[in-house]
Amino acid sequence: MRLPKTRRQALKAIGAAAAASFRLGLVTAVSQMLAACGSGGSGDEPAPTPPPVVDGSGTPLAIPPVLAPTSSTGTSDFYNLSIQENDVEILSGKATRIIGFNGITPGPTIRTPAGRNITVSVSNDLPDTTLGGTSGEVTIHLHGGHVPASEDGFPTDVIVPGTSRDYKYPNDQLSSTLWYHDHLMDFTGPHVWFGMAGLYILTDDHEESLGLPSGAYEVPLVIQDRNFDADGNLLYTRDLNGEVGNTLVINGSVKPYLRVATRMYRFRVLNGSNMRAYQLALSSGQPFLVLGMEGGLLPSPVEVSSISLSPGERADIVIDFSAIPLGQSLMLRNLLGSGDTAEILRLDVDRTETDASRVPSVLRPIEKLVEGDAVQTRSFNLAGGMMGMPGMMGGLWTINGNAFDPDRVDADPQLDTLEIWQFFNMSMMDHPVHVHQAMFQILDINGNPPFATHAGWKDTVNVPAMGSARIIVRFTDYAGKYVFHCHVLEHEDHAMMARVDIVP
Ligand code: C2O
Ligand code: CU
Ligand code: CU
Repeated sequence: MRLPKTRRQALKAIGAAAAASFRLGLVTAVSQMLAACGSGGSGDEPAPTPPPVVDGSGTPLAIPPVLAPTSSTGTSDFYNLSIQENDVEILSGKATRIIGFNGITPGPTIRTPAGRNITVSVSNDLPDTTLGGTSGEVTIHLHGGHVPASEDGFPTDVIVPGTSRDYKYPNDQLSSTLWYHDHLMDFTGPHVWFGMAGLYILTDDHEESLGLPSGAYEVPLVIQDRNFDADGNLLYTRDLNGEVGNTLVINGSVKPYLRVATRMYRFRVLNGSNMRAYQLALSSGQPFLVLGMEGGLLPSPVEVSSISLSPGERADIVIDFSAIPLGQSLMLRNLLGSGDTAEILRLDVDRTETDASRVPSVLRPIEKLVEGDAVQTRSFNLAGGMMGMPGMMGGLWTINGNAFDPDRVDADPQLDTLEIWQFFNMSMMDHPVHVHQAMFQILDINGNPPFATHAGWKDTVNVPAMGSARIIVRFTDYAGKYVFHCHVLEHEDHAMMARVDIVP
């Protein structure tokens, strides 16, 4: 199956059944929007509930395996990943067909010190047409990676089924929690939904020297939501407004729990959902520390009682269980959810341990990018989606009135110069905008400076419905063809993406 060259062909390729649900999607979208308007966001947190007692139910939290290199030299490591369909157990006693890196979802975690060169040989072992009736072509993007354009997984730079290619990652950037996922034009949403995503953790000597909780006390949390049918099959409708699941799946586990000791734990949290946003909080109301977000450590840890994560965003947090009585549990909750989608991870405090880890009050200074140094300001209007909305273009989402065209350059920043990008959201839905190649800093959201947790290096900024955001960014080292886009994957697939050519 060839990559559809136009949006219309893409829609045809999805097939009539999906097209029907596509139309249905508009109806669900309206109710979702009404629901979204009703919830006041971060302002009105529900009263803390008392900690539940350990009840032993649920499934133990799965931890994605760390991928071992197939070979190494003094400066480089080589890894293999195979993309394949596989049956896995997500719901107890049921087989769920997924598309997994090495057959699992999330895929194996790649963990590497910054400064080492990595080659990941990705073999596409999918059939020509894979789950959801989508193309078996893939392109792999390292989200948050500062990599040459040829390695960035441009949406049309595909690996066809039955072939493989090498991605070379220089890892010339700060320690941070990155992730890798498919980025195929028009089909990123279904491909990620069916399983194509994994963590990529960059470490460095400075961060290791801080004494943060590590090893078994450093826990990755990939938060996703999915819909299943009665037999355990994943359901995907290609909802124009973003696919929303009614079941939270954490590291591939449903209703997971983690047994913890009376000490500090570090959680590297990824919102790997297609469209759902989360607001993380502990059921006891106990505060926790945010060490950093997408681009690594903040200058100092920030204490919060909750943190919001849009699709694509990450948060590096530390929770201290030392004051929790043995035998009690805390629930890591989602304040934006209800019922099952309000509960992310149960934390059962089941043993006493001494804690040699620490969270220093100084983590790593950040070079503050200065507005006055910018040589260029670009404006991007985000619009579309629904009938009657400005920028509406046949059921697409647009940037400055345009649907994504891989052959049209939408921005041409000069390498090594500082730019301000302003985003105006002219729609009723949030758009978490993600920029490839470089980490940026947020200047303001709706005119207000970002909260301390969001004031460090970021690669995704949530532009609120009918609101605005400004970022400051400098692209360094690599010229060439990249993209920025909305990280609600169905918005991206319905054309809310722009090509950025970094000019040498
Ligand atoms: Cu996580 Cu361009 O994507
Ligand atoms: Cu990215
Ligand atoms: Cu969007």
